[in-house]
Amino acid sequence: MAQRAAVVTGASSGIGLAIARMLGQEGYGLTIAARRPEKLAEAAQTLRDEGLEVQEIAGNLADEEVIQSVVAAHKAKYDRLDVLVNNAGVGAGQAVAEITAKRVDLQLDLNLRSLILFYRESIELLREAGAEHRNALVVNTASISGKQGEPWLSVYSATKHGVVGFTEAMNKELAADGIKSCALCPGFVDTPMTDFVKGAVPADQMIRPDDIAEGVRMLLRLSPGCVIPEIIFQQPGGGLTGQPTG
Ligand SMILES: NC(=O)c1ccc[n+]([C@@H]2O[C@H](COP(=O)([O-])OP(=O)(O)OC[C@H]3O[C@@H](n4cnc5c(N)ncnc54)[C@H](OP(=O)(O)O)[C@@H]3O)[C@@H](O)[C@H]2O)c1
Repeated sequence: MAQRAAVVTGASSGIGLAIARMLGQEGYGLTIAARRPEKLAEAAQTLRDEGLEVQEIAGNLADEEVIQSVVAAHKAKYDRLDVLVNNAGVGAGQAVAEITAKRVDLQLDLNLRSLILFYRESIELLREAGAEHRNALVVNTASISGKQGEPWLSVYSATKHGVVGFTEAMNKELAADGIKSCALCPGFVDTPMTDFVKGAVPADQMIRPDDIAEGVRMLLRLSPGCVIPEIIFQQPGGGLTGQPTG
């Protein structure tokens, strides 16, 4: 049984899968969660084939009961939580005149509300880890759109600004508990989420999921007296002002 354990949401592809793999390589027992069961099972099997310890829980993470079941399953298997990675997210671009309540809710519920509920459900286990080693960690995948509003992706940008703000608040609220939080703020990353823009921005010019995982690996190495509240990942030159950045 692993000495440390982590939950990673949205881990069936892209950034979440890369972070999960890195955590597994660092010796963490993993619970991974995502929406589509078959895709998630395939990702979990790939990680197990690489020798990593993984359980998977599929479901819609916008649903409060599913969030509770993920944390409960994690506790039942590992009985500790050192790292929580709130990574599942969705982007649905619309011009302001076309915005539908359904798409607003979709993005708010997964990108922001779900992350908040994951903190609440995990806080007891995180506090136990923080009391033990002062280095419990919550990693929240925001976006460069959480630092600068993007046209057409306005609702997505608003949810990701919310992620950055909530992360900041958690760093203040949970510091005494030995729990750190970090918001990841990347521009375009080569994942299925950016397929829509690959005609204009070649995949090989994008940030790689492994770059994001390396940023998280660095966070694991910090001493208890140091917190990195956010990491901005850019393409050289600063990215693509005026275009959606993921
Ligand atoms: N790619 C970029 O350029 C970029 C840039 C900045 C930030 N981000 C953020 O990075 C995070 C990961 O995205 P990615 O680029 O790695 O894309 P991705 O490969 O499409 O991964 C998204 C993950 O979230 C899961 N997911 C989506 N809706 C869900 C739901 N309702 N319930 C549970 N799981 C759900 C997906 O599972 P299913 O496939 O089964 O739905 C998948 O595992 C997101 O928060 C995104 O906003 C991405």
